[in-house]
Amino acid sequence: MTETIFERSVQARRAFVAPELDVPRDDDALPERFRRAEAPRLPEIAEPEIVRHYNRLSRRNFDLDTGFYPLGSCTMKHNPKLHERVAALPGHARLHPLQAPARAQGALRLMAELQAALAEIAGLPHVSLQPSAGSQGELAGVLLTRAYHDDRGDHRTKVLTPDTAHGTNPATVTMAGYELVKLGTADDGGVDLDDLRAKADDDVACLMLTNPNTLGLFDTNIVEIAHVVHDVGATLYYDGANINAMMGRARPGDMGFDIVHYNLHKTFTQPHGGGGPGAGPIAVSERLEPYLPRPQVVRRDDGSFDLDFDRPKSIGRLRGFQGNFGVFVRAYAYILSLGADGLKEASETAVLNANYLQARLRELAGDLLPSAYERRCMHEFVLTGAPMKREIGLKTTDLAKRLLDHGFHPPTVYFPLLVDEALLVEPTETETRETLDAFAEAIAEILREGREDPEVARTAPHTTPVRRLDEAGAAKRPVVRQPM
Ligand SMILES: Cc1ncc(COP(=O)(O)O)c(C=O)c1O
Repeated sequence: MTETIFERSVQARRAFVAPELDVPRDDDALPERFRRAEAPRLPEIAEPEIVRHYNRLSRRNFDLDTGFYPLGSCTMKHNPKLHERVAALPGHARLHPLQAPARAQGALRLMAELQAALAEIAGLPHVSLQPSAGSQGELAGVLLTRAYHDDRGDHRTKVLTPDTAHGTNPATVTMAGYELVKLGTADDGGVDLDDLRAKADDDVACLMLTNPNTLGLFDTNIVEIAHVVHDVGATLYYDGANINAMMGRARPGDMGFDIVHYNLHKTFTQPHGGGGPGAGPIAVSERLEPYLPRPQVVRRDDGSFDLDFDRPKSIGRLRGFQGNFGVFVRAYAYILSLGADGLKEASETAVLNANYLQARLRELAGDLLPSAYERRCMHEFVLTGAPMKREIGLKTTDLAKRLLDHGFHPPTVYFPLLVDEALLVEPTETETRETLDAFAEAIAEILREGREDPEVARTAPHTTPVRRLDEAGAAKRPVVRQPM
């Protein structure tokens, strides 16, 4: 176990010496009500020890800068270092969130131009940058749907989601106060159209869908799906976490979607994971614009940029200030540095890489680890470990843990739920052919080893700082506070 920074603390050790006070000392300057009886307990530690402590901790983790991270649905792609440089520019990093709009014109312009670029990518005219995660974008989108129907005196009660949906979709539906109705999946991996037709009625407020879906498959019935949904007066919501597969090739707005959320922290490259800062902007069609969160970044007639609070039908604020500005800067830098052609190429390469890796795995491991759907995939694909479990007694989780010993982060496991022993692989566009080959060969090697001695994988990982953890225990009984 690595010691915590508090355990390394030694009284009176310092990393910093404050300069001599050059103003008169006034112990009463801070009003009584803000004072504590005792000083807070802070770690006391010298600078080299701090540097070593955090460096050591960072090396115990697995991250994108360390190795391949094909975590399906999470789009863990390389984050260009240029983005960090521009986000750290003092005018960006030191901007105060309460700065008056007249003195934050550059930042507001950046936000307005990012809104315009995102609108173009989605094919929907109006964007709010305010939501700070994909899931918060979802909540915003469903609240917009409610505001839209309520405004027309049309009080609907249900929201549809397919059984392949990301877990945040049903959670959002419930949080927004709607009844969740699940749609089945057809044999080809798309929405079961008959089930949709049977369940779409006047009580349905919205259908939430991602396309390509979480099986990595493009639903070619999308135009028909949009007709069925619109015919009953409902809205069609696009979970844009998977827009990584489509940028510049196809637009949700053109397919009939009314609301889209983006995951800027995935598709538009930010260091993310572990609950780090994100952004889940939404784009909407004309009829939903009046309900967008308040305030909106707008351009006034005199050309200046401003925050518009005068939005009487708005669903209101979703968070403090305007969102995670550093994330906007990085996404803006990504879009500008790639340009329209570059974004299209990024998506095409993501799809090419996924299909290449799927084909390599079919070749090297297809008998024990076949694709759940033998179709051309988009940016990700699902394998099933059911034959591997049956034939050699290895579960998907064993394979995932053993991959860590080969220096790879495992793909997403046991999701989507409808695939037995699922492994959802998203290689992304930023990986080389050599990396994809090495990953496929590592899987083949683990299966070879598993045939001879399955115990090695069953007890993996063997080379990581911690061995197999009690994941259910960590989720159900988390210890989130370091005992003093
Ligand atoms: C398909 C899909 N939808 C929604 C989300 C939710 O996004 P976030 O994690 O930013 O809340 C994710 C990401 O985890 C996702 O993969």
